[in-house]
Amino acid sequence: MTLRSESLHVPTHEEVVSFSDDDVGLRSVIAVHSTALGPALGGTRFHPFAFVDDAVTDVLRLSEAMTRKNSLADLDFGGGKAVIIGDPAVDKRPELLRAYGQAVCALEGRYVTAEDVGTTPADMDVIATVCSHVTGTSAASGDPSVATARGVHGAQAAVVRRMSGGSFEGCHVAVMGAGKVGSLLVESLIASGARVSVADVRQEAVAALADRHGTETCRVVGVEEILTQSCDLLAPCALGGVLDSAVVGSLRCRAIVGAANNQLGDDSVADELAAAGVLYVPDFVVNAGGVINLAQEAGGYDARDAERRTDAIADTVADLLDEADARNVTPLAAALERARRRVNAAGR
Ligand SMILES: NC(=O)c1ccc[n+]([C@@H]2O[C@H](COP(=O)([O-])OP(=O)(O)OC[C@H]3O[C@@H](n4cnc5c(N)ncnc54)[C@H](O)[C@@H]3O)[C@@H](O)[C@H]2O)c1
Repeated sequence: MTLRSESLHVPTHEEVVSFSDDDVGLRSVIAVHSTALGPALGGTRFHPFAFVDDAVTDVLRLSEAMTRKNSLADLDFGGGKAVIIGDPAVDKRPELLRAYGQAVCALEGRYVTAEDVGTTPADMDVIATVCSHVTGTSAASGDPSVATARGVHGAQAAVVRRMSGGSFEGCHVAVMGAGKVGSLLVESLIASGARVSVADVRQEAVAALADRHGTETCRVVGVEEILTQSCDLLAPCALGGVLDSAVVGSLRCRAIVGAANNQLGDDSVADELAAAGVLYVPDFVVNAGGVINLAQEAGGYDARDAERRTDAIADTVADLLDEADARNVTPLAAALERARRRVNAAGR
């Protein structure tokens, strides 16, 4: 193994390092946005980015979002993220993951990794054989998706209480993406009495849900139609960047509460959504359950406590929406201010 590294100068981030190892085909970028609140905690995305620049753009945005998320969830962790460039189905091999583990180790604990899109707890187990700065191994807290879905469902319940004062009965939710989080969310929504429309590029994922629940309760729609469903809640649970200026005018939902990271093309879309009468609950508030569960490992993993903290996301959402109403700002503006306040108070 010959691990090479190159530091990239990015003024908005504390540390960004690209790593490569030609012997095993590793190309990776680790971004530490902030360690003001503690070591930068965030997952490793394994994705076939077409260009290295796309991977860098993604990891910079994702790591900044982790600073926001960890701050608002009241965790003693900063924000970081990593990407491995490649197709996980083809390129993911133990020797590549071990080389990547050496890269994580090279940051000496300033970055702590976890799973993300394209990686799994089993991959974290391999990384843990060479590096201790890893969470979400199968021997520790495992797959964070269960906690993420639990938190998203709680956040949605808080919004439904606010919109109609009641339960999910009669509520229609459109879910984009039936992967690890989306499929669990669909199950919880249906168990709560909601009607679901769901779309995924993987037909087998949505067909299994519809077969299990029947098309009256769980309707499969095309991926190009899901965002424009007439519904109470839209839950983006696939990849980021799905809400941009071009989409806002065609939305027919009352509120957006979903798991995907970086749902907005940029922060200004939150103002456009508010002007269009759509309540957008910031993704980094809604989807914090997974990282709350991972962070719980720091003091010795306690599943009950992780659940209790995940369930508090619903209270944070309710409180944030009250504050946004009272101050006549968007929930995103209120959330960003809260996140910044805690980071600034940490003195860096
Ligand atoms: N897993 C977690 O704990 C966690 C935590 C926080 C945030 N998130 C975010 O939530 C999202 C989902 O995470 P996941 O772990 O379920 O990932 P996943 O890869 O298991 O699921 C994503 C699903 O989206 C589908 N998809 C891709 N493009 C699509 C499109 N255009 N239309 C519809 N479906 C599409 C994929 O086929 C896949 O089934 C990601 O943005 C992730 O970053 C996940």
